[in-house]
Amino acid sequence: MSRLDSVIRRLTSQKIVLEWAVDIIRYLDGTVLELGLGNGRTYDHLREILPDRDIYVFEREIAAHPDCIPEKSFQYLGDFRDSLPFAHQVMGANSVLAHLDIGTGEKQVSMQLAEQIAPLVLDLMKDRAIIISDQEIEGWSYMLIQPLESIPKDRIFIYQVAKK
Ligand SMILES: C[S@@+](CC[C@H](N)C(=O)[O-])C[C@H]1O[C@@H](n2cnc3c(N)ncnc32)[C@H](O)[C@@H]1O
Repeated sequence: MSRLDSVIRRLTSQKIVLEWAVDIIRYLDGTVLELGLGNGRTYDHLREILPDRDIYVFEREIAAHPDCIPEKSFQYLGDFRDSLPFAHQVMGANSVLAHLDIGTGEKQVSMQLAEQIAPLVLDLMKDRAIIISDQEIEGWSYMLIQPLESIPKDRIFIYQVAKK
């Protein structure tokens, strides 16, 4: 597969899964989390398809397209490992959708980061919330659902929170 096809497949999968999630969370009250603002593509799509939800963004440093930068009160800046516990102090467990788009190209580093932040993300989520991740999280295998045949199983992972 060419790199162009690979990028198209990844972005198409993200769009399909994010739009699927909107329907699943429609009866759950709560906020939305975007981990990895990047240049703001998926954040921009989330706010388009979820215009009535508060969307909080986590990012080391804002470098997004100027039109895709949330207001300061919706930004959690710094390393996820610091900003997620801080967000928990502020918001508690009130989120119904989290999109983890955290990969930086170094697979091992991204996988390790995902495992480290997994419990911190879970602390912010309500029971039955949906978490969409670009990294597989082994500790969450009991929450893995893959309801969409059209989505490549090794590219995007969908979890439904089951609080014990
Ligand atoms: C794949 S990009 C996000 C792409 C974005 N969702 C988009 O659609 O444009 C991953 C982002 O995660 C951020 N990131 C990676 N590791 C991080 C960390 N430990 N703490 C905070 N941000 C981090 C990077 O700065 C980068 O902007």
